[in-house]
Amino acid sequence: MLQKGFTLWFTGLSGAGKTTIARIVADEIRSRGRNVEVMDGDIVRQNLSKGLGFSKEDRDTNIKRIAFVCKILTRNGVATIAAAISPYREVRDFARQDIGHFVEVFVDCPLEECIRRDTKGLYAKALSGEIPQFTGVSDPYEHPLHPEVWLHTERESPEASAGRVLAKLEELGYLSPAEEPVYSPEEEEKIQERLANLGYL
Ligand code: ADX
Repeated sequence: MLQKGFTLWFTGLSGAGKTTIARIVADEIRSRGRNVEVMDGDIVRQNLSKGLGFSKEDRDTNIKRIAFVCKILTRNGVATIAAAISPYREVRDFARQDIGHFVEVFVDCPLEECIRRDTKGLYAKALSGEIPQFTGVSDPYEHPLHPEVWLHTERESPEASAGRVLAKLEELGYLSPAEEPVYSPEEEEKIQERLANLGYL
């Protein structure tokens, strides 16, 4: 049976935690037996969107390409994850309409915290003017108005954030809940003990 496909769309500033959380979520969904694909901005820009820059036009083209692939995967039952800054509301809303089964996650983190983290060393360059049109510094970021999930990564661990995303997917019926262990650890211990006493272990 074809499982219900969906696109989980992470949006937020560079360094907010999109890739990190997307990876945790992807691993968990995979461990529940689903086919998962991740479309990460940094990777897409090395192949499908190679050569594109960071003007509004190029960013919109990048997002439309990602959305196109997400749509195809989604209609084939894949758990599809996009992680790109996707700073413009209009093109994100286009993706939402076009894909249909769309769950938007706003990876919110104050600019000051992203600058403090500066995981890739790009904010220093953006602030000095070496990199122009840098999102949040010298280029706009339009946050979602009604995301399905709103994360606050300056005060939530990546694991906690991922947990909230998975819970939303379960709530929306896109993912079945993780199977609970049949026995509690205490029960498990007693069973082992009895089996040992009976000479089975
Ligand atoms: S998007 O705006 O088109 O959605 P995307 O997520 O694919 O962006 O790529 C963003 C990544 O490109 C950033 O994480 C950063 O590593 C790099 N980058 C290089 N220049 C810029 C810039 N001017 N603005 C934002 N990110 C940039």
